[in-house]
Parts: sequence; C-alpha cells; structure tokens
Amino acid sequence: MSSVAGEMRSEIRGVLFHESTIMSRLDELAGQISSDYSGKDLTVLAVLNGSLMFGADLLRRLEMPLRLDCLSVSSYHGASTTGVVTFNQLHLPEVHGRHVLLLDDILDSGHTLHAIQDKLMAETKPLSVKICVLLRKDVPRQRELEADYVGFDIANEFVVGYGLDYMERFRNLPYIGVINDEAITKYAPKG
Ligand code: IMP
Ligand code: MG
Repeated sequence: MSSVAGEMRSEIRGVLFHESTIMSRLDELAGQISSDYSGKDLTVLAVLNGSLMFGADLLRRLEMPLRLDCLSVSSYHGASTTGVVTFNQLHLPEVHGRHVLLLDDILDSGHTLHAIQDKLMAETKPLSVKICVLLRKDVPRQRELEADYVGFDIANEFVVGYGLDYMERFRNLPYIGVINDEAITKYAPKG
C-alpha cells in the first residue's frame, strides 16, 4: 500500500461498503435498469462530481447504446446541506423528448435532485425522468421525491468515498466509509 493510500486510510473510522459489495450491487442494479429500458432510447444524466465513480462503474454494466450527459451542481458546505442548489453551467443538456435517468451519489434532503428534476421538466421537457442513486439516507425528505433505483439504504450519518466527499476530499476512496473526528476537524471549512 502506498503512503498516500495509507494516509487516507488512517482517517477512516469505519467501512460501510467494501468495493466488492458495491460491485455486486451494481451488477444487480444494472440488470434491472437494462431490462426496464430495453428497446428504449436512454439518456443518462450524471450529476457531478459525486456520481463520477458510480456512473463509470454502473454505465459499463448497462447493455444498451445509451447517451451520457453530465451536469454539475453544488448544495453542500462541509457536512450539511445548504438547501440552496446552484447550477454550475448556464444550460442544461438537451433532453427534450428523451427518456432520462438521473444519476446521483446520494439522496439526502432531496433538495438537489428535486431542483434538477424541476428545471429539466420546465426547460427541456423530457419524455420521462427516473432517478437512480447509489445511497439513500434514512432522513425525512425536505422535498417530495422518490428514487426509482437505489444501491443501498443507509442510516443518517455522513459518509465519504467512491465519489462522495467531505470538503472535496475522499472522493477517491474505492469504498464507502466514515471519517474520524480528527479528519472532520482537519478539513473543516475555515471561518
Ligand atoms: P440533498 O440535496 O440533501 O439530497 O443532498 C444531495 C447531495 O449532498 C449529494 O449529491 C451529495 O453531494 C451531498 N451529500 C449528502 N449526504 C452526503 C454524505 O453523507 N456524504 C457526502 N456528501 C453528501
Ligand atoms: Mg458533495
């Protein structure tokens, strides 16, 4: 193990889902999605940066010639949601009349996916929009929103890895885990 990987590992308090567990679940999810969208013209809309790893691994398991678009939003500051969703690009991908599968790392308060779904419906009028998340947190949603495909249900705790960050760190962990208090303090937002 390299020293960099070791450094990051020492900041992880526990592992929630090992890489092999995630991969097995993605096999199942991909089977379900492939069968549901069989014969349809599917456009996957990946929400960056959180769905980068998830999307890369999931999409390579899907069997249809789908289109891929990405969009970037921000709503989190540190370990809590701000509730204000900022779109980091001027225009949404053009998905008028298409079947869209929105891909995100985690469904928490629901603000992010709700805002994206709303904007998509209002501006580009897709044929259908479904939601696929790797994780779904056990918290009351602040927005009415159901995920159609869910990798894993988790308790209300802050997790990192496999795309998920704390202050933009830890996205590159190959598994999903929980960071320790020292790491939370070390990378905490200043001021
Ligand atoms: P929501 O808008 O509250 O549903 O939050 C969705 C976004 O918040 C996700 O796309 C993540 O970027 C971020 N987020 C929510 N919970 C966590 C977590 O436990 N770890 C890392 N990021 C999270
Ligand atoms: Mg984030």
